[in-house]
Amino acid sequence: MSSQKVTKCICHDQSFETIKEYAREKNLSTIDGLQKHDFCSNGCQLCSPYVEALLETGQTEFLPGEPFGK
Ligand code: FES
Repeated sequence: MSSQKVTKCICHDQSFETIKEYAREKNLSTIDGLQKHDFCSNGCQLCSPYVEALLETGQTEFLPGEPFGK
């Protein structure tokens, strides 16, 4: 199980790769924008810290809990 990575918003079934693409296309730099577009991160919001890290660094694969350790 240690190889399991966090790679998507489960509620919206959107991979972080797709979210990154969408944010670039729509010129969205904050999670707020993505939530207002109803694209990701407005369900359980467990993915929010990961999506925030994605927007900051471009990273699309995380170890569970990784954004919390920074
Ligand atoms: S996993 Fe993204 S809102 Fe639930």
